[in-house]
Formats: sequence, structure tokens, C-alpha cells
Amino acid sequence: NHYAILMAGGIGSRFWPVSTTQYPKQFQDILGVGSTLIQITFYRLAKLMPAENIIILTHKDYKEIVKEQLPQVKDEQIVLEPCMRNTAPSILLGALKIKKKNSDALILVAPSDHWIQGDLAFQENIEEAFEIVASEDKLITLGIEPTFPNTGYGYIKYKKDDADGLKPVLRFTEKPSFKKAESFLEEGNYVWNAGIFIWSAKFILESFQKYQPETFRLFQKGVEVYNTEKEQEFLVENYQKAQSISIDYAIMEKSDSVYVIPAKFKWNDLGTWRSLEDELIQDKQQNTIVNGRLLPLKSTGNIIKTKNNKVVVLDQLHDFVVVENDNVLLITPKDRIQEIKAIRDKVVDQF
Ligand code: GDD
Ligand code: MG
Repeated sequence: NHYAILMAGGIGSRFWPVSTTQYPKQFQDILGVGSTLIQITFYRLAKLMPAENIIILTHKDYKEIVKEQLPQVKDEQIVLEPCMRNTAPSILLGALKIKKKNSDALILVAPSDHWIQGDLAFQENIEEAFEIVASEDKLITLGIEPTFPNTGYGYIKYKKDDADGLKPVLRFTEKPSFKKAESFLEEGNYVWNAGIFIWSAKFILESFQKYQPETFRLFQKGVEVYNTEKEQEFLVENYQKAQSISIDYAIMEKSDSVYVIPAKFKWNDLGTWRSLEDELIQDKQQNTIVNGRLLPLKSTGNIIKTKNNKVVVLDQLHDFVVVENDNVLLITPKDRIQEIKAIRDKVVDQF
């Protein structure tokens, strides 16, 4: 009775121009390891449950990409969202579909665009969580030891105790201000939300009913047609009516049944180009290169990703990001990488 909802509808705009709306980050081999992030994630989950129990939620435009990258996945495992409404509606829909198949289902919700090392530790964490939610009404998330006041994450204040494993959550704060994040780190008993959730189908649906009654009613209306040929018709007509909200704001900040298990694996959500520096080995001049060969001439601290393994000659260039796709080449100072989404938005209409 173990199922997974694989979240694959984001657009990863800070990895532009490699990640594009046509081909977002989860479908890219960001680290140059030979497989895309969704492929690696899918096979990691398939070690925890039958592969047919994994459903992939994504925007309708990515259907062909999913089928091409995961050829063993059947059409009925791919759920196509007619429009983007963030993660809460898709998780609710996924839970309703799974509950209809198996009313005792336990669900793992996993992002498709993260980089995880330590598959065994990951399995242990998830199995521990599955065991708990099999008999207790709890919403479990995995926590990551924070290293700096990153404002792009959810912060989990947990109840201190000496045992490792499950801890009650005192407060969940999604994407705090920088000041707040700093004070959280000073306080001490906070972890980052990894965005990986474990719960029973029954209890997450009860939580939606309680905290997001409108969205719950909207999707509950379709239950009869879920997992049939009529499902898509229902979604085309109704999905757009859902409020756009993430699971973190919709449920995790509100519920008093949230628990956290410290993650035992190495985790990186590949938030910006800079995260490549943490995962790949740098050359003697601290340059990082993916898919290419670098000939640096007095050039330091650059992050490079080429298309088709080019030789890149850098002459006296320091701390730049140089990345290309088939038709765009972006060159920007490394301290501007948080602005890449804004840069893309400014120019994207022009090609
Ligand atoms: N199906 C579907 N539909 N998937 C989506 C959608 C959507 O509309 N929007 C986003 N996703 C997918 C993304 O592809 C990603 O795998 C996952 O859902 C999470 O969405 P993000 O947009 O990447 O969320 P975030 O990074 O801002 O924040 C979340 O992750 C952080 C850790 O990386 C939150 O859960 C934070 O609390 C958490 O710290
Ligand atoms: Mg993310």
C-alpha cells in the first residue's frame, strides 16, 4: 500500500537558459551525470514501491517529455494539469486518485528536481515514516540541517529532545524574510523543509477538508471519474478554478499534526547555478564546469555549462556564470544568479 506522488510541474526559472518553460530543470541533466533529475528521482522511488504505484503530476505540455524520459511509465500514471496552480491542488488530486485505488494507501510526496546522495539513508528515512503514518494521523516531513538564512525554504521549528527520529513540529514557516530566517538560525532548533512529505491518503485528505475546504470540495466533485477516461475532461473544466497555493502555505503552516524526521542523506535542491559548486569538483582556479572542457587563462571562480561539450577558453574572467542551451548563451556575474529569473522575464519575449 505504498504510493508516491512525483511533483514535476515546476519551471525552474533560475536555471535559465538551460531550464526553460519548454524543458524545465527536472527534465535536464543539470549536473552532467548522464541522467535527468526526474529519471534519477523516479528510480530512487521505484526502490521503495512497485513502479506502477508512482504517479507523476505535471503540466500537460510536458506529457511527451515524461513519456520519452520514463518510457516504462504507463499513460495512466501521468496526470496532466491543464494549468499551473502550484503544489497544493496537484497533491490533493493525487491523493484522491490514490485513495480511490486503495483506501489504506500511504503516500510519499517527492519533488522531481532535487539532488540526493545516499539512497539507502533515504530509504531508511522513508520507511521509518511510512511505518509511523500507517497507524498514526501525522503529516511527516523530512528536515535538513540549515547552513545559512536561505529565504527560499520552509523553516521547521521542532521540539527538542534527545532521541533521533520523529520530532513534533512547533511551527512551520514557509519562505520567511531574511531577518526572520537569521533569527531562526540563532535560536537553534530549526531545520529546513526538504519538500518531501509522508502521510496516509486518509489523513492528508482530512487535512485538506479542514484547512482548504473549497479546494477540497472542488476536487472531491470529480472523484467518480478519477482513474477513468473521463478524468481529463473534468480537469480541463475544473482545474483552473483551484486557488493557486503551495502545500506549505495550504496545509503545513496550518496543521497541528506536523512532525519532522531529520534527513540522513545528503540533499541539495539545486536552487541556483551556485549549487553546482557544492556538488561538483572545482579545478585549481575554483572554476566549475559541466559538459565541456575548460582552458582557463588566469580565470577563477566561474561556473560553466556548455551544450555539446565545447572547449571554453576564458581569459581573465572571474566569478561569472556562463551557460548555454541550443540557442541562448547567458553570461552574468555570479552574484547576480538570484536575478536570473528576472533577467529571463525581461528578455524572454524577444525570442
Ligand atoms: N505538478 C506540479 N504542479 N508540480 C509543481 C507545481 C505545479 O503547479 N509547481 C511546482 N511543482 C513541483 C516542482 O517541480 C518541484 O519539484 C516541487 O513541486 C516543489 O515546488 P517548488 O516551486 O520547487 O517549491 P519551492 O522550492 O519554492 O519550495 C518548496 O521546496 C523547498 C525545498 O526545496 C517548499 O516545500 C519549501 O518549504 C522547501 O523548503
Ligand atoms: Mg524547489
